[in-house]
Amino acid sequence: MDRFSQLLDIWNTGREAEAEDLPTLDDLRAEKCDFLVNAVLGRTNALCLFCAMCCGRSDVIWVHDARVEHATLVDADRFAMAAMRCIYPPHWAYWTGDYREFLAQAEAGGFDLVVADQPHVFGSDVALDWLPHIAKLAAPRFRFIANYWPETVENLGAAPDDMAGLSSALSERVGLTAHFREMLYRGRVEKVDLYWAVIDIEA
Ligand SMILES: C[S@@+](CC[C@H](N)C(=O)[O-])C[C@H]1O[C@@H](n2cnc3c(N)ncnc32)[C@H](O)[C@@H]1O
Repeated sequence: MDRFSQLLDIWNTGREAEAEDLPTLDDLRAEKCDFLVNAVLGRTNALCLFCAMCCGRSDVIWVHDARVEHATLVDADRFAMAAMRCIYPPHWAYWTGDYREFLAQAEAGGFDLVVADQPHVFGSDVALDWLPHIAKLAAPRFRFIANYWPETVENLGAAPDDMAGLSSALSERVGLTAHFREMLYRGRVEKVDLYWAVIDIEA
């Protein structure tokens, strides 16, 4: 059984993991999933939504290793968030609960990077519907990296490789200026194609 299956087993029985059960930063570096290294370099203040179930190996470890000074981590799973507090810097902010509650109560945070590894069920809710609100919490120019599931791409009416088409459709849809920079193919997830979209947003 691999490390994450063991951790999930512990959490599923309603227990917090012991320190020795948790992966170290080096373990996460060895196991990290594809991400856009260059897309997070040079950022200073990150908001990471849906970040905890695999201890951030898809996203937070990259943010950490890009030396982003401050990050606010948000996830609904209390056991996974307790683990995140042990693994990542103590001066970062940790918020446990539903992302909609977090976004509704959060004050403007000047985030220059927002990363969302949202599950399929919240695909367009986060990538489209909450984006104007997220922009209010972020810096006037920020980078948004979020999962784009097929429904979201179809909703915008442009192909996944059509950066100009996606940019104009999203700008019109959310009333912000959006520049798609890259779509990183994450593979087949739940039998559909999943992409990380890297988008620069200007309010
Ligand atoms: C794909 S996993 C994220 C994995 C994470 N990026 C990592 O690398 O460890 C999706 C995450 O969404 C979280 N989640 C599910 N529903 C949520 C909600 N309503 N609000 C906040 N987080 C939620 C789960 O707890 C889980 O950690």
